[in-house]
Amino acid sequence: MSTNIDHVLHEDRSFPPSEAFRSAARISSEEEYDAIWRRSIDDPDGFWGEVARQIPWIKPFDQVLDWSDAPRAKWFGGGQLNASAVCLDQHLISGRKDKTAILWEGEPGDQVSYTYAELHDAVCRFANVLKARGIKKGDRVAIYMPMIPELAMATLACARIGAIHSVIFGGFSASSIRDRIEDGSCTAVITSDGGWRRGKVLPLKDVVDEALADLPGSDEAGVHTVLVVKRTENDVAWHEGRDCWYHDELAKVSGECPPEPMESEDTLFLLYTSGSTGKPKGIQHTTGGYMVGTYLTTQFVFDLREDDIYWCTADVGWITGHSYIVYGPLANGATVVMYEGAPNQPHPGRFWELIAKHKVTILYTAPTAIRAFMRWGDEHVDKHDLSSLRLLGTVGEPINPEAWIWYRQKIGGGRCPIVDTWWQTETGGIMMTPLPGVSATKPGSCMKPFFGVDPVILDSDGVEVEGDAGGYLALRKPWPSMLRGIWGDYERFVETYWSKFKGMYFPGDGARLDKDGCTWIMGRVDDVLNVSGHRLSTMEIESALVSHGAVCEAAVVPRPDEITGQAIVAFVSLAGDASKSDELVAELGAHVSKEIGKLARPADIRFADALPKTRSGKIMRRLLKDVAAGREIAGDTTTLEDMSVIESLRDG
Ligand code: WTA
Repeated sequence: MSTNIDHVLHEDRSFPPSEAFRSAARISSEEEYDAIWRRSIDDPDGFWGEVARQIPWIKPFDQVLDWSDAPRAKWFGGGQLNASAVCLDQHLISGRKDKTAILWEGEPGDQVSYTYAELHDAVCRFANVLKARGIKKGDRVAIYMPMIPELAMATLACARIGAIHSVIFGGFSASSIRDRIEDGSCTAVITSDGGWRRGKVLPLKDVVDEALADLPGSDEAGVHTVLVVKRTENDVAWHEGRDCWYHDELAKVSGECPPEPMESEDTLFLLYTSGSTGKPKGIQHTTGGYMVGTYLTTQFVFDLREDDIYWCTADVGWITGHSYIVYGPLANGATVVMYEGAPNQPHPGRFWELIAKHKVTILYTAPTAIRAFMRWGDEHVDKHDLSSLRLLGTVGEPINPEAWIWYRQKIGGGRCPIVDTWWQTETGGIMMTPLPGVSATKPGSCMKPFFGVDPVILDSDGVEVEGDAGGYLALRKPWPSMLRGIWGDYERFVETYWSKFKGMYFPGDGARLDKDGCTWIMGRVDDVLNVSGHRLSTMEIESALVSHGAVCEAAVVPRPDEITGQAIVAFVSLAGDASKSDELVAELGAHVSKEIGKLARPADIRFADALPKTRSGKIMRRLLKDVAAGREIAGDTTTLEDMSVIESLRDG
């Protein structure tokens, strides 16, 4: 039996770009978009070859795509380039040397900016520091830092010498860091003594110390260097020989560092993300395709202009920050705003104050942030002049129409197009999106495929669904910035992404196409939660809970949440001698924070005498979802082994 996915959302409004926006845009008509998209699908070699030649290569490529060993893709074979040279060196000779590259503001209000020439110099010096510490091409370097300019520099410095960076979001716990360092066999860590968040200093170096403390073999094969950037006055413990202050090392090096020539398919970075089973996956991106993809999407999706002040509010610890703070915008020579802290520090209008102060023209943020701003109240927005804005974007999760309309009216003054961009860590860059000068956007729809993207919606048998019914989203064509693997586990890569539908990439999302051919993403179809735009696996949170002595079994499900999109609800059954108490709830929450990070802490922990299971012993999360959301239990319960379990959960 084939199954479709039901959809409930009906949204008929649509908002074309203003005539002023349209007439100035790179692409300004449906016909133009259709023609370019059609060509990108019919003649991908011609299309991508032309795009790729717009970025600087050290040695030109001799083949656009080799897909003969699918799903192992080889883009721009024979070509050599360096991502940091694409982002920096080219601008020094193209007249952008004195243009601001990064405009940074710390949470306490301190400011620094770097021109392209200054950023180039800083990255070369940073790269020389890494070299002086014995870090070389192919080595893996973990980066665990606050949102300070040195974070962007660290990624580019790794790229410059050909080291593979693995950025770990600053909210992850010591044990999450340890897992990622071990999985990637990182030999160095770049961190900072601390970073500002909500008026307090996060002790990042301490967390790194804890992560490394019980890492086996750290003397021989393990981490030989922890490079510490000074950001605060935080006291830090010191491991002689291993730890070094960045500013001390900096004093010893020159500003001369030619970019390492990298093969197009050499790995640029790893970024870990949650999957439905097993430990986090080290998503592997390579150099040529990733740079081409992020370069092109940044230019067209944001319709980037030379004088734009561009602000993406993501953290560089996530893919959005990699692709749309660092690589894509810098490859285009943009002026990028970077902000260290929380959006409501010291007041709920901080973002709007920043926009007014720096005359930001493009804002790219997440639905969860937009919903939080709505709740904090319009008065915090009204105090600031947002008239510099000309384009808005969202990413990370489906945006509800109410938040979309608020974003358009309140932040965009009714004049800025909104690009709702669908993509993933795995896709490297934006895959489906409105084009701002073209699309009559519909609130909640990511509209149409970007160039070279060939989506289809299938039922569980792999048959294309008819009409505007929901189904599984799949992509029929390889694209340059696609992931090349899961670090150290090629089989899992094939199994997770390329096995559900033959010859197609399966992203794990449900979607539907409406009568106009616009796409509506319906969220994950697997056991991945999306909390505040952060992907978390139910399985990882369950394992963290079960690793606590009092817990015998745990099931984690999402509940709809007005602000965070989804909130985590955990059902736990306790081990024999443990007893239910509020203290235990608090303790389990703290335990999950410690094991994974605060972002995974359940909003709601409920004790259950037993969990609902099928006769074959599988936990029926579908039923728990209904219980968590306070809904009637829907669908078939005949496979449930013991109905009374559900009744007692609901009553409890
Ligand atoms: C979801 C973030 C609806 C989706 C770039 C995807 C979205 C997952 C959208 C990837 C959007 C991302 N509309 N859903 N515009 N953007 N998603 O890897 O479920 O952190 O699979 O990448 O977020 O999350 P990730």
